[in-house]
Amino acid sequence: MKKIGIMGSGTVAQTLGTGFLKHGYTVMLGTRNPQKLKQWQAENGKDARVGSFAETAEFGDLIVLAVKGTAALTVMQSTSAKHLEGKTVMDATNPIAEAPPQNGVLQYFTSQNESLMEQLQANFPKAHFVKAFNSVGSAKMVNPVFETKPTMFICGNDNNAKKEVGVITEQLGWEVEDMGAAEAARAIEPLAMLWCIPGFRHNQWTHAFKLLK
Ligand SMILES: NC(=O)c1ccc[n+]([C@@H]2O[C@H](COP(=O)([O-])OP(=O)(O)OC[C@H]3O[C@@H](n4cnc5c(N)ncnc54)[C@H](OP(=O)(O)O)[C@@H]3O)[C@@H](O)[C@H]2O)c1
Repeated sequence: MKKIGIMGSGTVAQTLGTGFLKHGYTVMLGTRNPQKLKQWQAENGKDARVGSFAETAEFGDLIVLAVKGTAALTVMQSTSAKHLEGKTVMDATNPIAEAPPQNGVLQYFTSQNESLMEQLQANFPKAHFVKAFNSVGSAKMVNPVFETKPTMFICGNDNNAKKEVGVITEQLGWEVEDMGAAEAARAIEPLAMLWCIPGFRHNQWTHAFKLLK
């Protein structure tokens, strides 16, 4: 697996894209507006590509979903289902509602016994969704330096897909904790709410989670 298609043009897509390029992958970022990625492409060399969402889904052996949570389903639906079939989709999105945070606590459009990733998985049963990279800020996503390796919590229904995500997550400097099937996204997605609280309260945005054992 050498080609990664990242759906998104924001800070997460660009950061992960640059990170994967450094580790030898060829990367396409997907967007409705390729113009906005001209600079990213110019700074990242010949293996950095830009395309539409549909082209990106077709291009990637592995897909990364890094779009606004409210748009995640629409973006996936704008691709051809056959280009997702059998592929791993590493899902970094969070179901953040349009409403503002309350006392530093993000509001989600999902409730506690559901998750965005389960909705996506139900809509694309032939793709293999794996939650990852949703609960750390973009500044610390790629080979972060801490006293000890931080933990990336992942989950999903397909073991091979989780192995694939495990490999690239370790390459980006993380220790991987597999939390089980897609339902575990109900616990992993809200970690981003917790992660953001020090940011909104004290402007601290550079921490990461670690599972101590
Ligand atoms: N920012 C972080 O540090 C961070 C950390 C962890 C997880 N996340 C999660 O990662 C995801 C990406 O975050 P981000 O901050 O990089 O970017 P973002 O601003 O949340 O999302 C930008 C992307 O969403 C797409 N988008 C927005 N509205 C759309 C619509 N109506 N229809 C189709 N596409 C639409 C944009 O498409 P175009 O390219 O076409 O404009 C763009 O690619 C989010 O779900 C976020 O919660 C963010």
